[in-house]
Amino acid sequence: MKVELKKDIYWVGYTDWDIRDFHGYRTSRGSSYNAYMIKDEKIAVIDSVKALYAKHLLANIAMIAALDKVDYVVCNHAEPDHSGSLPVLMEACVNAELVCNAKCQKTLSMYYDTAKWKFKIVDEASQISLGSHTLTFMNTPMAHWPESMFTYIPEEKLLFSMDAFGQHYARSEHFDDEVPMDEVMQEAKTYYANIIMLYGKQVGKVLERAAGLDIEMIAPSHGIIWRKNLGTIIEAYKRWIVCKAEPKVLIFFDSMWKSTEKLADAIYEGARQDGVCVKKHDLKSTNITELADEVIDCAVMAVGSPTLNKGMMPKVAQALTYLKGLAPESKAAVAFGSYGWAKKGGAHAIMEYLTAMNCELLSEEPLQCQFVPTEEVLQEATELGEKLAKKALEIAHAK
Ligand code: FEO
Repeated sequence: MKVELKKDIYWVGYTDWDIRDFHGYRTSRGSSYNAYMIKDEKIAVIDSVKALYAKHLLANIAMIAALDKVDYVVCNHAEPDHSGSLPVLMEACVNAELVCNAKCQKTLSMYYDTAKWKFKIVDEASQISLGSHTLTFMNTPMAHWPESMFTYIPEEKLLFSMDAFGQHYARSEHFDDEVPMDEVMQEAKTYYANIIMLYGKQVGKVLERAAGLDIEMIAPSHGIIWRKNLGTIIEAYKRWIVCKAEPKVLIFFDSMWKSTEKLADAIYEGARQDGVCVKKHDLKSTNITELADEVIDCAVMAVGSPTLNKGMMPKVAQALTYLKGLAPESKAAVAFGSYGWAKKGGAHAIMEYLTAMNCELLSEEPLQCQFVPTEEVLQEATELGEKLAKKALEIAHAK
């Protein structure tokens, strides 16, 4: 079935229903690798798909035009989920030029044997006329890689936004007005948190520049295409870019013999105050993809681990390593946990991570108990929860 975005502009990508692990990202709803095609006096393909699915890309293109009629293959982003099938595509499209910026050419040449490819290097001043459509380009460094760029067709007010505004979300439908908005926004948020959050500042600059374009449709490289709810996704990006805090306390922990879990439960009870959302995640059952999604809009984090081998539990170390890499901004935080005989163990190791993440530490020492929390310590944990709730309200309402 042909999927037409606008007259003579088609989706020719691949919907990946089965993927559940995208280099560590838990893709619970699958994904898609969106490629597009414009049929005019000249024919252009925008982006490609993972190497494994090259034959589907070729078949989709061939439904619309013969492969030897393709004049241009535009590569907006060299990451292999979008460039992996370029070797097959460039071999099949014998008359096509590979359109990309200079940085992208360098990156592609490291991934693939590009000796036989005819490159057409573009910059922001370049325009390629296909007839009634013009391809223009905007460099968007670090959204998601240094060579990333947008392609824009002014006559159609259509932006090919590459990873930006994407979602790992497999659907047979292709447009935002055909799918449940709560699902697509959830997947867009999870995608932003796990893929883009580290580059929030750069993406903010990209958004500022893209605001000068007249846009009616945004076609990203993953997930559904935005044609109705552009304002919703753009406003959401503005919040996510600054990690805008809600009045939300996020508690996450692992536990060995339930002592740290009891502390988490007591903090949770204390934090349950009017107007405050409290989330409690035992890392035995919450994966890091879901956790990143929770972190982006929390105001305060409480992170717990018992001491294990003088340090913290592996799942807590994994979560903090991952979050430190994503660099969420402007979070307040505390650490807690139990220990047996090594008091400077798990909870202190957490404090080091929270410091490295530039969190505002709400206490100089973690909340700890030896082996089992006493009633006094549990009361202390409840009071800590109350303090975190108050702080979450302060942070959220200060912005
Ligand atoms: Fe979907 Fe950065 O690649």
